[in-house]
Amino acid sequence: MPFMLDDLKKAQQAYRQFLERRPPEHHARYIFPFFAGSYFCYRKIDVRRVVAVAKAASSDPSYLDVGCGYGDFLSKIREFLPNASGVEKEGGIFYALGVEKPAYIEVAPVESIAKQGDMAFVGWMEPGVDFRRQVSKAAQCIVTTFDAGGQCGINGGCEYDEFGYERVAWWRTPSWIDVNAEVMNRYYTPTLSEEKKEQLADLRSAHNFWYVYARPDIADKVRESLRAQAAMEDPHDRFEFEGVLDECGFGYKEELLTVTSARRLWEVVFD
Ligand SMILES: C[S@@+](CC[C@H](N)C(=O)[O-])C[C@H]1O[C@@H](n2cnc3c(N)ncnc32)[C@H](O)[C@@H]1O
Repeated sequence: MPFMLDDLKKAQQAYRQFLERRPPEHHARYIFPFFAGSYFCYRKIDVRRVVAVAKAASSDPSYLDVGCGYGDFLSKIREFLPNASGVEKEGGIFYALGVEKPAYIEVAPVESIAKQGDMAFVGWMEPGVDFRRQVSKAAQCIVTTFDAGGQCGINGGCEYDEFGYERVAWWRTPSWIDVNAEVMNRYYTPTLSEEKKEQLADLRSAHNFWYVYARPDIADKVRESLRAQAAMEDPHDRFEFEGVLDECGFGYKEELLTVTSARRLWEVVFD
């Protein structure tokens, strides 16, 4: 089990205490990602890109969010793909905390999913958790997000090439760890000088990568669908919580000084 339910209960208590202090709107998402957000930061354009990938596989695609937790990202996907569903191994996260489990989330390990679908999404797995083989049996296209620190297999790779997929494109977003640090430094560390805050902001480097994979026979179609989506995307069409990313210096197409290639956040790089 990736986490202990007792730890989760303690974290939930801290989350409730935090909310009682009436913090600025949307901060909780970046401080308690499991309860109030997700372990990867996203904008509406990410949701639209993922939907564009799924729609390249089928006009009415099946969509499975693997290890979806409480389903924060999944709920946004469902605004565009109302039949999208999720699978979450740890049913205790709902029952132990008294959170109602939506019907579209199945409590089961992905290993039990037998049917082949159009699209699987894997949003940030704990280091060491590696279910790529199972995911690759479940879908024609896969979008996976992971941190630059190394996750999944023993070598830290989250790639799907070895399972018969072609990588079609990728993009970079800020890691929730960097956003969390920035929110904490800016708003919850009153003793930190402005100069120190600026210095810390320059150090951030724990990016999150979004990799898009497709079976070779539909790779071109997926690439074109994503290309068309990226060309017409409107960063002003957004979720309210994206304002926190902007305030913290993680703007759309913001240029990063700490990397040497694909320096702009959210810039799609086609393979
Ligand atoms: C780090 S959390 C990420 C949750 C969510 N995707 C997000 O990004 O916020 C990983 C989730 O994957 C679930 N998980 C781990 N192994 C799994 C498996 N074999 N099948 C389904 N879910 C699994 C865990 O229970 C946990 O809720």
